[in-house]
Formats: sequence, C-alpha cells, structure tokens
Amino acid sequence: MQPISELIRPDSVHKKIYTDQEIFDREIENIWEKIWVYCGHESQVKNQGDFYTLQIGRQPMVMVRGADDNIHVLYNRCPHRGVQLCGARSGNTGSTFVCSYHAWTFHLDGQIKKIPMVEGYAGTKMNYENPNCSVKTAARVDSYRGFVFASLSPDGESLEEFLGESKIAFDDMCDRSPEGEVEVVPVCHRVIQHSNWKFFMENQLDALHPSVTHQSTGVAASRVERSIQEKGETPPLYYHYLSTFASTFDQWDAVQTINFPKGHGILAGFMGLRPDDSDTQEYVASMYKAYGEKLAEEYLQRNIHHVLVYPYLSVQSPLQQMRVLRPIAPNKTLSEIWHFRLKGVSPAIYRRSLWYYNLVNSPSTMINADDLENWTKGQWGLESDGHDWVSFHRDFGRDTVTDDGTTYSNNGMSEAVMRSQSAAWATYMENGE
Ligand code: FES
Ligand SMILES: [Fe+2]
Repeated sequence: MQPISELIRPDSVHKKIYTDQEIFDREIENIWEKIWVYCGHESQVKNQGDFYTLQIGRQPMVMVRGADDNIHVLYNRCPHRGVQLCGARSGNTGSTFVCSYHAWTFHLDGQIKKIPMVEGYAGTKMNYENPNCSVKTAARVDSYRGFVFASLSPDGESLEEFLGESKIAFDDMCDRSPEGEVEVVPVCHRVIQHSNWKFFMENQLDALHPSVTHQSTGVAASRVERSIQEKGETPPLYYHYLSTFASTFDQWDAVQTINFPKGHGILAGFMGLRPDDSDTQEYVASMYKAYGEKLAEEYLQRNIHHVLVYPYLSVQSPLQQMRVLRPIAPNKTLSEIWHFRLKGVSPAIYRRSLWYYNLVNSPSTMINADDLENWTKGQWGLESDGHDWVSFHRDFGRDTVTDDGTTYSNNGMSEAVMRSQSAAWATYMENGE
C-alpha cells in the first residue's frame, strides 16, 4: 500500500489521487464511510413513513420519518436475504417496511415486526430478539438546523465538531428567513460528473477560473445588461448573476478565501442581493420585525459568497443553493443539486433562488456546463502520462496562516484552497490507516 506522504507535497499532489482505484477504495473507507455525510433535509420526510434513499460511501441507505417522529437512517437491505427494502427513490411506506421478497416486516426504526411463518425458524438463531433480524441502522444520526447527517462510524467527533466553521453555511441560509428556517424545494438535478470528486471541490473556490471558463457567458450577459441600462431601465437581477462571471482578474484577486484546517472554506464576498424595489423592501421589513434592525442587518450583510463543507458540500447560502457530492468511482461522481425556500418570504424573493438554480447551477446552464467540460478534460489529462504532478503553486508562501492553522489568502486567486484541501485529505487518509 503506497504511503500517502509519497502522493502529497505542500505545493502539489500526485495525479494518482484522482485516478487510482486503490486510492479511491481507501478514500471510501477512511473518509466517506466514517465522517458525517449529508442525508437530506428534514422537510424531505415530513410525515411518518416518508422515506428518501441515498448513498453513503458504498452503502445504499434510506432516511425515514419514524413513528416517534424522529428521523432514522437505515441500510436499505433486508436482513433476511438482502433485498433492498425501498426500490423507489422516495415515497411513503406507511407504518412499516415490508420486504417485497418474503414479506418480513419492519417498524420504521428498522426493528423487526413480523417474520411470516416464524415457526419455520424454531431451534435456529433467527428470532425476534436477534438484532440480526432487524434492519441495520447508521451508527449515528444528527441534524443541524434541519439538515440531517449520518455517520457509519460509532466513534469520532460530533456533527457540530465535524462541521466546525462551516456551520455558518446553514446558519446563513436559515437566518435569512424571518422564521429562521428553510424547506427543500423537492426538485433535484442529479448529474454524473465524469471526473474525480476533488475537481469539483477545488473548483468551487477557484477564483482564477471564472474570467476564463465563464468569460463568454459573462460578457454576453454584461452586454445585455448595459443595453437595458442605456434605455434608462433597470436590468433584472438575474443578468447580474451571469455578468459577474466576467469580472477582471484584478477583481477576482481582490476577494478572499478563508481555508480551515479540516478543508472547509469560505469565499468572502457580498452578493449584492438587495435591489431597491418593493419586494426587497417588504422582505427587509419582515426581517426587521423578526429580529430587530441590528441583527437583521447583520444577517443580510454577511460577507459570504460560498461555503464549502469538506469534502462534499458546496453551499451558496445567500441564495439557498447546495450541491452534494457522492463519489462513485475515481472518474465518476454523482452531484445532487438542491435549492431551498426561505420560510415566510414572498414568491418574488424565492424566485431569486430559483433563477440562480436554473441559470448558474443547473446542468443545462452555460456556467455549469463549462465547468463540467473542464473537469472531464482534467480527468482525461491526469489519466495520461503527460506529467505526474498537479500544480498548486500559485501564491505559495504568500498567504496568511494564523496560529490555529487557518489560511487567509492575500490574493483571491491563490491556490491556498487546493493546498488546504489536499492537506486535509492527507490527514483523513493517514488517520484512517
Ligand atoms: S429477502 Fe427480505 S424477506 Fe426475504
Ligand atoms: Fe466555474
């Protein structure tokens, strides 16, 4: 087994960590099947018996609202002969799970309820008291502000410790609602990316790429925006979502990334979502009423553009966007693209999240499509014998590192983001082995 130290340098990583099956298998064991993995939002399973299936590492799981109103996360596997209990992605299973093969029946928390013709097991180990007759549950389940996570490992840090500084992603999302909560919009784009999951995570705070990768879209949107302004009219906010991608290198270098020791990161930057119109005025008034002016302004003026929960969540909290990665193979990654509705706001305010969802994050936009193409071509390049090492040298040694190990980039386009993520990756891998 190749030592991790041979694959990581402070300023670069070996291509194998993106392409090698053996490394990928070690990642699944040491990272994905140990850490807290996002399952879904509690509003996806509102009623008893509501379920939603998902993948944690290699394990097919089901999140379900129990008879006790708690959310349980179970292995989607019948204890009898292994058949998956839920075949649909989501639905309501009633008050029990009934296996489609031989009708073993389970309570919503996975406990065995009935084995048909149980007398056939007389004298064997299979009886109602044997835990092996119940559905296996995730070792730990917890939630933060309505976002449900599970860990397949009984030991390790708590969910709040795992999230650490990245908790702000969920706080920022929910605090922007006068009710302090969001609910899921039950439409999820599922995209198979033909590239290693690290490409996506590195890209999210990569301020060097937008002016190149997204230049054509940004420039086209800027032209339309200007022509509307020349007519003396105010361009709709959604043009701004796209034109901002055409910012200059200097503008991108002026932003800051904050990179935490566990790989989480924040791209600081105020998103400018407060046009002076009656919808916004009504929304701001409802926030003042809920929180008082001072606190409401603190929430509305947070200097956050993007938060990464390493190694698998990309959250654009000011617009309630969240992308979730589930790695499938070294060169294959499922991404789930979700967005949320702020509770207690008008449809006009919600529409701003929907625009962003459709114009920037959906797989059919010109923004996401250009990223996807780069990552696929990146995977092909790293699978070649062109070079062995991937460079993260930009602004190396020029970031500010505090005593607690947090790295503040002094230039927005610093590859501090990638250096921080690869260091966190090495720590996970080495601790697991
Ligand atoms: S496999 Fe589920 S009841 Fe037999
Ligand atoms: Fe991009």
